Amino acid sequence: MRVVIAGQGYVGLPLAVRAAEVGHRVVGYDVDERRIKRLAVGESYVEDIPAERLRPLLENGSYLPSAEPSDVAGFDVAVITVPTPLREGVPDLSFIEASAALLAQHLRPGATVVLESTTYPGTTEELLAPLLEAGSGLTAGRDFHLGYSPERIDPGNPTWRLENTPKVVSGIDPASLAAVEGFYGGLVERTVPVSSCKEAELTKLLENTFRHVNIALVNELAMFAHDLGIDVWEAIDAASTKPFGYLRFTPGPGVGGHCLPIDPSYLSWRVERALGQSFRFVELANDVNSHMPDYVVRRLAEALNDRQRSVKGSRVLLLGLAYKKNTGDARETPAARVAELLVRMGAEVRAADPHVVVGVHVPEPVIPGQRAAEHDPHGDPFGAVRRVEASPEELAAADAVVLLADHDDFDYEAVTAHARYVLDCRRRLPRGAAVEVL
Ligand SMILES: NC(=O)c1ccc[n+]([C@@H]2O[C@H](COP(=O)([O-])OP(=O)(O)OC[C@H]3O[C@@H](n4cnc5c(N)ncnc54)[C@H](O)[C@@H]3O)[C@@H](O)[C@H]2O)c1
Repeated sequence: MRVVIAGQGYVGLPLAVRAAEVGHRVVGYDVDERRIKRLAVGESYVEDIPAERLRPLLENGSYLPSAEPSDVAGFDVAVITVPTPLREGVPDLSFIEASAALLAQHLRPGATVVLESTTYPGTTEELLAPLLEAGSGLTAGRDFHLGYSPERIDPGNPTWRLENTPKVVSGIDPASLAAVEGFYGGLVERTVPVSSCKEAELTKLLENTFRHVNIALVNELAMFAHDLGIDVWEAIDAASTKPFGYLRFTPGPGVGGHCLPIDPSYLSWRVERALGQSFRFVELANDVNSHMPDYVVRRLAEALNDRQRSVKGSRVLLLGLAYKKNTGDARETPAARVAELLVRMGAEVRAADPHVVVGVHVPEPVIPGQRAAEHDPHGDPFGAVRRVEASPEELAAADAVVLLADHDDFDYEAVTAHARYVLDCRRRLPRGAAVEVL
């Protein structure tokens, strides 16, 4: 089949590659020309897609990355994998709307459109269907198939990949469901059909809200346990031996990425708007998790204070800017807030992260030294932070080191050997006089 994947990011690129590998002719369409140029020469910015997987597909012509709108013409299946951010706390569906407008121009009878972007229940039927119909003159269900299938991709997870993670599928009617299930059935080992698009949309939000709430629970517990002089990590390890009824979550410096800081708010927004009620679990989890960077800075200030130092004038080395280990994804990362608070308090902040590449994951700062606006996706949140390598010299010269993302390729022996003080937010280092755990 001729397949178009609109959006070539963490979700769209692996999907496009998989579809090309199983024999479809795939156009990976993205409005970001810089990304498309990189893909066209076989360079991938998504860790899970190495260049060795991309290049054969480019060479045999089964995968065409393109920023040219007319290249989407003639598709049998189109999948939308564009961003769904929040703008001032409100869902911003403008990227889905733009994709829908383009796909509608090229929609043919018998074709299938699937939305994968995370969004509130009702989006596929109430927003996407009317846009596709208005732009094409066709009727959803009667003339073309339409469905929703949430993405479960976990960047950097070598065990659970697109192929072996069960995929929830839905359609606006039985024929649409059959078309959507047929397409994904050729890409993944197991599809999980649900009865309507709304259940599929809610499934994704349930999964992410579940994580968000449980992370908030252990984060709040970690703060209390510290003040009570109890080792929360040991309690978590012990609780994790329970073979039923418990799932392990660990504390950290806050949540990041495209999902947890954003998706639960899509659900609470919908509940508030449709029912006039607040989703208290989401609000509480947002509150706890979004304040973790403040707690990290408070703990750091206390540790410096114990060493007769103030934050102002101290040299602080942040290890790991990505929101989680082994990924270059720095979207919504709590490291940005930690850096911002420390810079504001007068610390000299440096940071090491071999995965987060300026110009790829975070664009070059427009004005060096100036932090971009909070919600500007094209701003460098680390503008005021000098990027360094975690060398023995840098480690030894810092008054304090904060381990925020425990990438496997940091040299942890060097960290313990050279750092004067480490606040370990991931319990990666052996305990010692100079190491404190969050
Ligand atoms: N990253 C994850 O781990 C993950 C997991 C599950 C679901 N999701 C969801 O999937 C969606 C995409 O997330 P992502 O992480 O791939 O985002 P991303 O930012 O990595 O990629 C999105 C891409 O879409 C492109 N784009 C924007 N407008 C476009 C348009 N009109 N037409 C074509 N391309 C356009 C952007 O340039 C970008 O390259 C979001 O709704 C997100 O919540 C993400």
